[in-house]
Amino acid sequence: MGDPMKWVKKDPEKENVFWPTEAAKARAWVSDESIYAEAKADPVAFWEKYAKEIHWFKRWDKAYEFAPEAYKWFVGGKLNLSYNCLDRQIDAGNGDRIALIWEPEPVEEEAISLTYKELHRLVSKFSNVLKGLGVTKGDRIGIYMPMIPEAVIAMQACARIGAVHSVVFSAFSPDSLRDRMVDAGAKVVITADGYYRRGKAIDLKKNADTGVEGTPVEKVVVVKRLDKSTPMTPGRDLWYHELMDGASESHQAEEMDSEDLLFLLYTSGTTGKPKGIMHTTGGYAVQSYLTAKWNFDLHEGDIYWCTADVGWITGHTYINYAPLLNGVTSLLYEGSPDAPDYGRMWAIIEKHKVTQLYTAPTAIRMFLKWGNEWPKKYDLSSLRLLGTVGEPINVDAWMWYFEVIGGGRCPVIDTWWQTETGANMVNNLPGIGPFIPTVAGRTFPGVHGEILDAGGSVLAPGEGGYLAIFSPFPPALTRGIYGDMERFKAQYFTEYGPERYFTSDGARMDETGNTRITGRVDDVMNVAGHRLATAEVESALAQNNKVSEVAVVSRPHDLKGEVPIAFVLLKGGVDHSDEIRKELMGTVNQVIGPTGRPDKIIFVDDVPKTRSGKIMRRVLKALVRDEPVGDLTTLQNPESVDQLKSLVDYKGG
Ligand code: WTA
Repeated sequence: MGDPMKWVKKDPEKENVFWPTEAAKARAWVSDESIYAEAKADPVAFWEKYAKEIHWFKRWDKAYEFAPEAYKWFVGGKLNLSYNCLDRQIDAGNGDRIALIWEPEPVEEEAISLTYKELHRLVSKFSNVLKGLGVTKGDRIGIYMPMIPEAVIAMQACARIGAVHSVVFSAFSPDSLRDRMVDAGAKVVITADGYYRRGKAIDLKKNADTGVEGTPVEKVVVVKRLDKSTPMTPGRDLWYHELMDGASESHQAEEMDSEDLLFLLYTSGTTGKPKGIMHTTGGYAVQSYLTAKWNFDLHEGDIYWCTADVGWITGHTYINYAPLLNGVTSLLYEGSPDAPDYGRMWAIIEKHKVTQLYTAPTAIRMFLKWGNEWPKKYDLSSLRLLGTVGEPINVDAWMWYFEVIGGGRCPVIDTWWQTETGANMVNNLPGIGPFIPTVAGRTFPGVHGEILDAGGSVLAPGEGGYLAIFSPFPPALTRGIYGDMERFKAQYFTEYGPERYFTSDGARMDETGNTRITGRVDDVMNVAGHRLATAEVESALAQNNKVSEVAVVSRPHDLKGEVPIAFVLLKGGVDHSDEIRKELMGTVNQVIGPTGRPDKIIFVDDVPKTRSGKIMRRVLKALVRDEPVGDLTTLQNPESVDQLKSLVDYKGG
């Protein structure tokens, strides 16, 4: 490989501040500061301008319409997102470009590449398969799949026929799948017999079988990934490859209304019940397309790799839709970064000449811990840009990513956003900068964010408060919670009213608008980059009949960012033991999946409560963080705190 381009230069005056070089500016889609002022002067006109870069069967009549909890974008417009990802690329002469590269976990298996034409063919066939199963526009379809190309094919086919996909992370438990399929009223589930994880074949079909019991699901389509036999339920289960064999390749993408529901994605809120975040077609398409293009500097020939799972919003937007909207190659890796050894990430980058890498701080901290010798074995000079997402990044992780992985050449684009926002919202642009560890950056052009105090006043630069997003809302912002618009209003639009979306994140901003995100201000945790509510873990543990009371709080963790700590009061007659601890971990596994497991279960005789009987989680949180517990005078049982102090006797790590 030739001399890799140097994207960044150091600020001559400030430490750890970097700017794009002249060469980077020349290459970037936007490099002129004036883009911010232009977008701010008329955000609606800004989004309209770039909406014209994608394909519409019919242009919109009105770009933005506001009503409380019922804002709309590109009203009256008709488009199809999958058509935009595939047909549009083929029409533009990009059909022979590689759309997807799939890297299986077992190293002896060959990678698979699919061109835009091939992907189009498979998606068209699968669209016909779904139609053949009686799926029509507006039907909800569950996707419970590992990281295999068929996951992308399934999502694309849903979008193509106007069915609403609801992807459930493959490591989530059968109970999680069931709850989501019931809430969504799903008719069909698409799954696989299994996948490889750290060299082991994992049986996914078994979980799918349990998870669809007691749901409205009538058909289960199963992709064959493993070389083993799988029990199939007659009349319900169908093999993907058999259905595909007979399917026609010709399929006309459905004309969707801009505001037609595109997908549901369940995410953790502050209660025990995850909420079905709704995303609609037009606004989501436009913001996904533009943010990926500008933030990751996507150009023809790029091999872009986002390491998220398709089960999370990052996988939806930045593995599937956005890279394909931009005509680049999206890399999909099936397995674990330590299989067969700690060098796998870097081996994949060298092998496929990856140009952009988008990953999470928790992963970066893990790579850092594994040591520099692993990345040093591989040629990473193909990398031009690095991205991070999911949680606040620390300086060490940022600098390591920048220096060791990016060779000090590549900008680190720290993107803040949420399942609810659908696409990136806060980050600096690669052609404008600056790139500063722990600073995500300015709001993306056309997005208006401010830091507010609890009363809703805009704070002065440097002051810590809550990040709020102002109307005109960015086009990809969620349109609601499926089946629960009251909760939607209560969660996002009561703090600051209907014209200011409450993000639940703390932040501070400097005088130039550069924003540092300090983390969630509610009871939602970020555990190894996975979003999880303390209430979810509590309600999972409470399902075990030996548990009398339970309180879960989060605690910072060096590697995972945050971890849940559970305080458990067992029912009378049940002794504290490691056996019970194991059993409780098993309960969490069953209800949520391994991502919900507490880092520690602490058995207690009492938990601090208010006089009205509410558990004082604030006190528990202070205890596990080794912080002052504050005023205890309102407690019913202040003596409980002393016992807890001796139980929570660990610090750090
Ligand atoms: C956090 C993930 C700091 C934040 C796309 C947010 C971040 C939650 C960043 C959403 C970042 C995401 N810096 N914190 N760059 N990106 N977060 O819905 O607390 O899984 O509210 O979406 O992750 O998590 P979600």
